[in-house]
Amino acid sequence: MTQGERAVRLLLIGPPGSGKGTQGKRVAQRYGVEHIAAGDLLRLEVETESGIGRRAAASMQRGELVPDALVYELVMPRVLAAGKANGYVLDGFPRSVGQAEEGRAIFEDNDVAVRLAVLLDAIPDDLLPRLLERAQSEGRFDDTPEVIRARLDVFKEEVEPLLAFYRERGLLVTVDASGSPDDVWAQLQAVVEST
Ligand code: AP5
Repeated sequence: MTQGERAVRLLLIGPPGSGKGTQGKRVAQRYGVEHIAAGDLLRLEVETESGIGRRAAASMQRGELVPDALVYELVMPRVLAAGKANGYVLDGFPRSVGQAEEGRAIFEDNDVAVRLAVLLDAIPDDLLPRLLERAQSEGRFDDTPEVIRARLDVFKEEVEPLLAFYRERGLLVTVDASGSPDDVWAQLQAVVEST
């Protein structure tokens, strides 16, 4: 899909390990939109020791949310640019109702608002093992058992108001994310193409 009325502007919501990154990459490839992954962007800043990275590192190492101002500085320009070009798939932003409110104000003013929010509904017991396996292969600095548990706790605290925000606007769809990546992708594609 390309520019204009039908451009994909999708938000993926889900706990750590639910497959936001995995599915976000597929959405980007299939629909020619930009995959904007807040965590990936922040980790790059931390690894390159930029100003944003230095200010974000401590929160990320504790599994807590990075201060909103840093996230906005990093993510908002990318969302605006992608929204005005071919569209986007957002992975991990907004992840609080405060961020959703802030995003709505800016994105609606610029005619690039989220069109569809998908909750990846995974089985909680699957998440820690998946992420510990990833820790072995990828060595992400925030994939220790303690930090993963903190990230899961933050998700539980933030998710209900975030879901309510998109549900009230008629934008929220839930996808069963307990199957294989291919199973999840088949459902996600069906949802994207029916909206
Ligand atoms: P972020 O990088 O977004 O981490 P997360 O939300 O904890 O999510 P993950 O990346 O761990 O999981 P995922 O859902 O993307 O799953 P994935 O596809 O990789 O955020 C990290 C940190 O950045 C936060 O803690 C915070 O500090 C900061 N941050 C980010 N956004 C922020 C914001 N908006 N505001 C403030 N702070 C922010 O899959 C995981 C593994 O499982 C992979 O190995 C994959 O191969 C496997 N897998 C995926 N799907 C399946 C499946 N269906 N079956 C089996 N295995 C699967």
